[in-house]
Amino acid sequence: MVNYKDLGLVNTREMFKRAVAGGYAIPAFNFNTMEQMQAIVMAAVETKSPVIMQVSKGARNYANASILRFMAEGAVAYAKELGCEHPEIVLHLDHGDSFELCKDCIDMGFSSVMIDGSHLPYEENIALAKKVVDYAHQYDVTVEAELGVLAGVEDEVSAAESHYTKPEEVIDFATRTGCDSLAISIGTSHGAHKFTPEQCTLVNGVLVPPPLAFDILAEIEKKLPGFPIVLHGSSSVPMDEVNTINQYGGKLEAAIGIPEEQLRKAAKSAVCKINIDSDSRLAMTAAIRKHLAEHPGDFDPRQYLKPARENMKKMYIHKIVNVLGSDGKLAQC
Ligand code: G3H
Ligand code: 13P
Ligand code: ZN
Repeated sequence: MVNYKDLGLVNTREMFKRAVAGGYAIPAFNFNTMEQMQAIVMAAVETKSPVIMQVSKGARNYANASILRFMAEGAVAYAKELGCEHPEIVLHLDHGDSFELCKDCIDMGFSSVMIDGSHLPYEENIALAKKVVDYAHQYDVTVEAELGVLAGVEDEVSAAESHYTKPEEVIDFATRTGCDSLAISIGTSHGAHKFTPEQCTLVNGVLVPPPLAFDILAEIEKKLPGFPIVLHGSSSVPMDEVNTINQYGGKLEAAIGIPEEQLRKAAKSAVCKINIDSDSRLAMTAAIRKHLAEHPGDFDPRQYLKPARENMKKMYIHKIVNVLGSDGKLAQC
């Protein structure tokens, strides 16, 4: 049994309290590789932001669970080396799909876990989330649960269509599970193709996606005042990265994300954790494709991973400063 506190990590409780009160959101960035981890830490240190580094089941399969845990421990040491004396770094399991997976992560040093029973019938979702909460809280590990279903298809997360969270269920769900934060469905979805062009409106030649259901968010906030709310599927799918990918041999058609103004608006509410993965994938791929196209003789991975890391860092800093507003929000620098 490894306790996250011995690794220098923190859980989400205090940072969420401050984020809800302060009207900003904590970034939750997925990572699978060392370069993503380094870029996340550099961005968090430069902006003096708390940060959630999250690991999906797919990331554990790709990179190995122990390696990712040691990378998170390394992230704390790296942040200190970069001059941040009191970093606030959460190691979070993203989309945990069983009690056993959550327990395994808690036992190996994660400070926060998500149990995603959103696809289950209501009572089963509650029972599973409560079981995870009861175990996690013994070790002061915080738990995110989900109510409502996001659309989108990825390796480990898939649903044909979304079902918005029902505000009339949230009090019962939060009370009976004892969860520390609640992921909701208000129109975001996973991946780089969040909407079809037919779902969007053409404004001055640009496809504008339908707005998020802020009315549902407002109702949820009314039912659970001050309770930490989480938004998944919050990449904005920047067109410049998509264009770079396509310019240098890629084929990403009809990629559409959540407009950043909508995320800015959500971050000012009880939404205190915003999940971003696809934008990092796009930033990395765009930089690698560009570098290799311009330097066809390069074959040392450091030559193309360095610009990829720089591009991801730039994107993370932009999200922190211009979208989520978590810059300068460390409790102590
Ligand atoms: O929400 C899911 C994350 O983007 C992780 O995706 O399961 O492909 O690692 P993944
Ligand atoms: P995106 O695919 O929009 O980056 O969402 C990531 C996410 O929700 C991870 O849990
Ligand atoms: Zn997600």
